[in-house]
Amino acid sequence: MVDHSFKEDFKYKHDNPYHDRLAQFSEFVLRDNESEEHKGRWNQDVFKRDGKLFLEIGSGAGHFMVDYCVDHPDHNFVGLDYRFKRSFALAKKLSSLENKNFRYLRAKGERIEFQFAENELDGIFYFFPDPWPKSRHNKKRLIQEPFLKGAHKVLKPGAIFYIKTDHDDYAEWMAREIKQCGLFDILLESKDMRAEHPDHFLCKYTTGFERIFLQQGIKIKAFVLQAKK
Ligand SMILES: C[S@@+](CC[C@H](N)C(=O)[O-])C[C@H]1O[C@@H](n2cnc3c(N)ncnc32)[C@H](O)[C@@H]1O
Repeated sequence: MVDHSFKEDFKYKHDNPYHDRLAQFSEFVLRDNESEEHKGRWNQDVFKRDGKLFLEIGSGAGHFMVDYCVDHPDHNFVGLDYRFKRSFALAKKLSSLENKNFRYLRAKGERIEFQFAENELDGIFYFFPDPWPKSRHNKKRLIQEPFLKGAHKVLKPGAIFYIKTDHDDYAEWMAREIKQCGLFDILLESKDMRAEHPDHFLCKYTTGFERIFLQQGIKIKAFVLQAKK
């Protein structure tokens, strides 16, 4: 069941032309395993300043990443996605931001324990993860025990993990996995975030996919989890 990318000696293999093209943004883009040498030293070595350190998994077109980084110039933010073309488009967008209070990883979220040290992160955002709706593909869903254990490890005590999804079945799956692993307190669980908590931080930001789902009248499901330590 466990994907190879959860293993310590995992090496990325690909021959995608965008891999080389991303090198032009090496000021703030780290590719494949490159980020892993900074484990435990993101603020000291990479950002070279103190500050709360946040991770977004699956940044996509970067709507949340860009808005959040602009709104929180004193936070250190790491965005991550594994799709090459999307990463390149986002890197181009990020290059125009003056305040480089972010880094971008072309990498897999499964690698979280190798990218960050125990108690290093102040928070994680994961918005509209791929739902893998066919039952034979469910095992590819990131929100399950191996990843939840890694996320819990790298979060500081009491740090928050924010999740939004459009997908009813994945939301139910998440609720089961989160409760079964017992590593998080569920501070909020909503089947219709926009109606139930319109003033919440999570409703202040609308991601690219979220915009489409809202236009289709789909209710946004959300979790706010706190690492129990
Ligand atoms: C449906 S899109 C959502 C993008 C963005 N968060 C939004 O709401 O507009 C899911 C994104 O997560 C990325 N993704 C999915 N699983 C991932 C993983 N395991 N590691 C890194 N990125 C992942 C995909 O490449 C894709 O860009």
